Amino acid sequence: MDQEHHTETCPATRPRRFYDCSLNEKLLYSSFLLLAGLAYLMALAYLYTSFDGIDGKPGLSVEDIADNYYGNRSGTRLESALRGPMADYIETGQRSQVVKWLKSGASEADYERLIKPIFDEQCVTCHSAASGLDVPDFTSYPGIKEVANVDTGVSLHSLMKVSHIHLFGIGLVALGIGLVFRFALLPAWFQHTLTLLPFIAIFSDISAWFLTKWDPVYAYTVIIAGGMLGLSWALQIIISLYQIWFLRCRPETGSIDDG
Ligand code: HEC
Repeated sequence: MDQEHHTETCPATRPRRFYDCSLNEKLLYSSFLLLAGLAYLMALAYLYTSFDGIDGKPGLSVEDIADNYYGNRSGTRLESALRGPMADYIETGQRSQVVKWLKSGASEADYERLIKPIFDEQCVTCHSAASGLDVPDFTSYPGIKEVANVDTGVSLHSLMKVSHIHLFGIGLVALGIGLVFRFALLPAWFQHTLTLLPFIAIFSDISAWFLTKWDPVYAYTVIIAGGMLGLSWALQIIISLYQIWFLRCRPETGSIDDG
C-alpha cells in the first residue's frame, strides 16, 4: 500500500560501531562520558549530604526521603512535648485546649485569646530568654509558631520546580549518554533495554516524589528508581568506554558474515 510513496531500499550495511568512529569522535565521546559520570557522582554526594539525617539519625534512609517529601506528620513538636517531657507542667484540660488550637491551624488570634494565658502562667518561667535555658522562647507568638507547625514536607510548588528542571536536565543527559551508547556492540534485546532504562527510571523517580508527598511508602520507589538510573548509566558508560578503546572489529577473511 506504500508503493506510491517515496521509499528507499533498506540498508544492507551493518550499524555503525565504536570501531568505525574516528579518533576525534572517540575523544569527544570519552570526555563526555567521563564528565557525565563525574557529574552523577557529584549529584549523589550532594543528595547524601542534603538528605543525611533529616529524620535525626545519621545516614541516608527511607525515612529521610519520606520525611522530606511527606513530612513528619505524627504531629507538632509542641504536641509531642506536651504529651511527653512537658506533661507535668500543664493540666489535662489545658493540654486539650492547646491541642485543639494546634489542630485548628494555630492562628495568632486564638493564641492571644486562649493560649497565651496558659503559657504565660505555666511555661515562660523556663521558656523565655530571661531563664537562660537553651529552650524555645514562648513569650510571643513567633516563638511558639516554630514548634506549632505540622511538618508536611517539601511544598508542591517547589516540587514542581525541581521536577521540571530534573526532567529537562536529566532527559538531555540520558539522551547524550544514549547517543554514544548506541554504537556499542551488544545483543539487541540488552541494548534496547539498557537504552530505555534511564528514561523509565527518571520518570518513575520523579513520579515517586509526588506519590511520596501523598503516601510515604513511595519513598521506596524513589530509592529503587534512583538506583536503577545509576546502574543503567554506569553500565552504559563503562560498556561504551571499554568498547571505544578496546573493542576491535574482526578483519575480513573470506566469509563476510557479521552478527
Ligand atoms: C521547669 C522548666 C520548664 C517548664 C516550666 C516548661 N518547660 Fe518546656 N522545656 C524545658 C527544658 C529544659 C526543655 C529542653 C529539654 C527537653 O526537651 O526535655 C524543654 C523543652 C520543651 C519543648 C521541646 C522543644 C523542642 O526543641 O522540640 C517544648 C515544645 C516545650 N518544652 C514546651 C513547654 C510548654 C508548652 C510548657 C508549659 C506548659 C513548658 N514547656 C514548660 C523546661 C521547661
